[in-house]
Amino acid sequence: MHLIVIFASEMGKMRIDIITAVPELLTGPFDHSMVKRAIEKGLASIHIHNLRDYATGKHKSVDDYPFSGGGGMVLMVEPIDRAISDLKAQRDYQEIIYTSPDGQAFNQKLANRLSCQENMIILCGHYKGIDQRVRDHLITMEISIGDYVLTGGELAAAIMADAIIRLIPGVLSDEESALTDSFQDNLLAPPIYTRPAEYHGWKVPEILLSGNDRRIEEWKLEQSLERTRQLRPDLLDDQLSRRQIPE
Ligand code: ADE
Repeated sequence: MHLIVIFASEMGKMRIDIITAVPELLTGPFDHSMVKRAIEKGLASIHIHNLRDYATGKHKSVDDYPFSGGGGMVLMVEPIDRAISDLKAQRDYQEIIYTSPDGQAFNQKLANRLSCQENMIILCGHYKGIDQRVRDHLITMEISIGDYVLTGGELAAAIMADAIIRLIPGVLSDEESALTDSFQDNLLAPPIYTRPAEYHGWKVPEILLSGNDRRIEEWKLEQSLERTRQLRPDLLDDQLSRRQIPE
């Protein structure tokens, strides 16, 4: 993780181009909080492209019936090819990602890796699906945000962009550091408290009020390990638990 941050800081601004048939679904998520701050600081930029702008023909259609019959509409290869080619003619892209429930699982490790890229395209699926030739010839990877089916990839794109952008050095302040997030180092984050030290008889653990930084750090690690053991034991592979369980 530390290495990744160093590499990312040398890359400069990240650019994410999102291609969608329903751009209206993406108005909002990037206008607030940290992503907005990252954009304002010039650390990242997000560009939404309406697939319809790349459609030809009288009706500017972006979808058509499947040759195989059955219900649902399929996003056509031509407007997608035109959109991607147009962007690729302007700059190099390290990844062209298609959002799909069939894709590689999105997780913190993948977010870390993608936060090191300079330019990426996220192509949002919609309707019944996308012409297979897009998947075979135009994209570099497919990503799923979970084992459930959304109406389209737009929300998946927003989630991915949020998780990636907050990892860019300078987006979070030191206090918010991504290094202490859940899932960094495959551990859930420890519990966290603020004032008052007691509320309705519910007390903050005494160790946190002790001022003993070394013991507080040890307590946080123990809590992280215990939480992970209880809630997400799958995250603890043997090697990691052997290395980090305190004596
Ligand atoms: N599109 C529809 N469902 C999706 C999912 N689970 N992840 C990413 N894109 C999707």
